[in-house]
Amino acid sequence: MTDVFRKDLFNGKVLFATGGRTGIGYKLVEQMMAHGANATILGRDAKGLAESAANLEKATGSKCLAAAADVRKPAELKAAVDATIAKFGRIDFVVCGAAGNFLAPIGGLSENAFRTVLEIDTLGTYNTLKATLPYVRETKGAYLHISATLHYKGVPFQAHVSAAKAGVDALSQVIAVEEGPRGVRSNVVAPGPIGNTEGMSRLGTPGYDARAAIPLGAMGETQDVANAAIFLFSPAASWVTGQTFVVDGGQQHMRGSGAPYPDALLDPKVAATILKGKL
Ligand code: COA
Repeated sequence: MTDVFRKDLFNGKVLFATGGRTGIGYKLVEQMMAHGANATILGRDAKGLAESAANLEKATGSKCLAAAADVRKPAELKAAVDATIAKFGRIDFVVCGAAGNFLAPIGGLSENAFRTVLEIDTLGTYNTLKATLPYVRETKGAYLHISATLHYKGVPFQAHVSAAKAGVDALSQVIAVEEGPRGVRSNVVAPGPIGNTEGMSRLGTPGYDARAAIPLGAMGETQDVANAAIFLFSPAASWVTGQTFVVDGGQQHMRGSGAPYPDALLDPKVAATILKGKL
């Protein structure tokens, strides 16, 4: 854990996080709890969620509620918000982190597959905003959206996620402007390649050389994203809203396509090293 931030920074505050069961979301929630916040984590895997909540409580000493829900279902989200208010009495911070991803070219992406990722990422973010906003207004709280950098350029096999995350970024900017006058902030954190995460194990390209691709010489850690989140939720960022905070070791300034180009698009043997489905 970083000792840069005060341990009691978020004492008395409550975090509501979609997608906090594993990876970046888990570390982010853990660090908010380690700095005093109580938290709700939300996801579809009820058993895994309960295990993560127990681990988070043990590691931090703060309280964690596991709320099994699908962000695509507004009624389930609202029930999770109600349970949070019943247990903790308030919501100060919201992390919109629930996301779905896999590698597939447009030719191999069914209409349902494209829609599924937009429903999880973009509509899921909207549903989360709708369910939490009345409470976040009360506390003059803040939103943080876990997005990506891939949609800043064209990236093969990521049409669905590029469209979905562009929508998330846009929603964050709109809510910053609409809700700013009520004291509510909204920012985006955009992680580059973060090691030891489900995202990298699903999406990583075999042979990816982080030293050649990232100015700071290595993949990031989940802690790097959590550090940015702590700053953006803290009073140090009280005049920061509608922004995207890229945490990628400088990768976006170096980025090629990631996958071998154009062989990954044209040669089925090369594609098979990256994709589950067909070109
Ligand atoms: N390539 C192409 N299409 C794929 C795919 C792949 N690797 N994986 C799933 N799909 C398609 C399915 O075939 C289905 O389309 P179809 O009905 O036309 O066949 C569609 O996507 C929906 O899949 P399904 O498994 O029914 O959806 P789900 O709601 O159970 O799961 C996913 C959602 C697909 C996003 C799944 O990957 C998931 O649950 N991810 C959560 C974890 C995650 O991705 N975290 C992000 C890490 S960065």
